[in-house]
Amino acid sequence: MVQAIPFLLVLSLALVAPGHSARKCVLTGKWVNDLGSNMTIGALNGKGEFAGSYHTAVTATMNEIQVSPLQGSQHNTNQKSQPTFGFTVNWSFSDSVTVFTGQCFVDDEGKEVLKTMWLLRSHVDKISDDWKATRVGINTFTRLRSRKE
Ligand code: BTN
Repeated sequence: MVQAIPFLLVLSLALVAPGHSARKCVLTGKWVNDLGSNMTIGALNGKGEFAGSYHTAVTATMNEIQVSPLQGSQHNTNQKSQPTFGFTVNWSFSDSVTVFTGQCFVDDEGKEVLKTMWLLRSHVDKISDDWKATRVGINTFTRLRSRKE
């Protein structure tokens, strides 16, 4: 038992060492971002693919916002604890598409955070308007917990 104590100390230190979080970041669930947009990501299949829904809080259009479908995949190589991923939102209420790419992190407090960048492609009628058709930005998502938890 006495011999086991140093081993357990080293093991616990290794698990909580900065940049080597013991907790796995899981994409499945409900998330809210810095704009107040909500998204739900369903279970991943064996290939790391997932589907879900996105309720944006903002729009570049004058249209009424509707919940829109998303489809994406997580990079599953080596089963990383902080995986990279990407997904596409095909907006139900506009002619636009947004692609997000990012990484699922566990922060210093053990909270899961999705750090993403996105490209929002709006529809334009003519090729000469192409230059203004794509917006770029970043969003940070945190897990949305129900009040019962
Ligand atoms: C549109 O305006 O045509 C569709 C909605 C776009 C919402 C964008 S996508 C990137 C950014 N992040 C959000 O949560 N909402 C906006």
